[in-house]
Amino acid sequence: MVSTGLSAMSFYTPHRYVSLDTLAEHHGIDPAKFSKGIGQEKIAMPGHDEDAVTLAAEAARPIIDRFGTDDIDTVLFATESGVDQAKSAGIFLHDLLGLPNNIRHVELKQACYSATGALQMSCAYVARKPDKKILLIASDVARYDLDSSGEATQGAGAVAMLISTEPKLLEIGPISGLFTEDIMDFWRPNDRRTPLFDGKLSALRYMKALVEAWRDYRANGGSQYDEFDRFCYHLPFSRLGEKAHSHLAKEAEVAADMGKALPGMIYNRQVGNSYTASIYLAILSTLENSDEDLSGSRLGLFSYGSGATAEFFDATVVPGYREYLAPERHREILNRRKAVSYDEYIALWHAVPEAEGAMTSMPDEAVGRYRLTGIDDKKRIYTDRQG
Ligand code: HMG
Repeated sequence: MVSTGLSAMSFYTPHRYVSLDTLAEHHGIDPAKFSKGIGQEKIAMPGHDEDAVTLAAEAARPIIDRFGTDDIDTVLFATESGVDQAKSAGIFLHDLLGLPNNIRHVELKQACYSATGALQMSCAYVARKPDKKILLIASDVARYDLDSSGEATQGAGAVAMLISTEPKLLEIGPISGLFTEDIMDFWRPNDRRTPLFDGKLSALRYMKALVEAWRDYRANGGSQYDEFDRFCYHLPFSRLGEKAHSHLAKEAEVAADMGKALPGMIYNRQVGNSYTASIYLAILSTLENSDEDLSGSRLGLFSYGSGATAEFFDATVVPGYREYLAPERHREILNRRKAVSYDEYIALWHAVPEAEGAMTSMPDEAVGRYRLTGIDDKKRIYTDRQG
């Protein structure tokens, strides 16, 4: 069988965050509820001129700079905070990234899961066309209503990945376990900017989906629990990942080794939920926060998207993988960020009101190369500051 998987991964998150201590102080609750109870520290906050498209462009740029565009014939954009109901978010990237015209773009949606569906389809595609590569981008802004129980689990970020044969970073295993059930645990009707959700139910269904996907994975001939060196989970908040890890160990009738899951939570604690990007950020966090050489290590991966579809799958770290990571750049993106006050957070949370039939300019708040300049009579205008 042809070896397929990830040859590059790159991450971006906005340069502002609100500390969960600030949120706790405002609501008059014990900060430990957030730091320990849900296991989160910061919520990444995009500026008004940042969205899933600009975050994606920032994440993808280093991949394009290093590998060029010649072999890429498909861009898959996984998001649940897309900017248009018809046009794929990826097409807005077309000029920003200097992509060629002989390329296809598709946007995929299934809550936080869709990047995993896109990854599996990409692996099958490049196996059929080994001279081609797919640029897969998972990008989301996770925004909940103010004062809701979900408020502390907001966040934003994008992970861009290059999918190819003979992967340089991670080989994706051919076996996976799937689980779908039609439930209303988290959803966002077309007329809403923020989702509706049943937080407690969603956490329970996440655990059920984990067990069912794992059972399907094992029934399909997947590895045993103790054959994995690390585990990465979809992380709406890191405490759920810890619970998932214990739950899976119980199902596999072994003692949970938390050390195999915690490295995957380091970045996510700083960023918050990044929906489709979350499990891929956990993978990056695992690979970039280990002093140990992980070459040949086996990763157990759990992807969940409310509604709900889940998948348990695996990957093997390719020897020499470190050459294809950028831990310094990613830590710099996280470390250079600035905390905002509660009032600044509220100002960022509210959208700029759009003028009907005229140009609405966005304040220049992004620090990256790409920004949403404005919306002109409902047409989004993006700028490359270097273009
Ligand atoms: P809540 O109801 O405000 O919190 O919201 P809680 O009262 O359940 O407390 C949370 C934990 O903190 C509890 O621990 C408390 O005991 C603990 P647990 O019982 O769960 O182990 N706690 C404290 N710990 C230490 N010191 C203290 C303290 N006080 C309390 N002083 C909830 C929690 C997750 C429900 C909320 O954040 C929420 O609704 N979030 C949004 C939905 C969500 O993230 N669901 C996750 C599963 S679904 C999913 O992952 C899909 C998703 O990413 C979307 C997609 O697929 O597109 C969301």
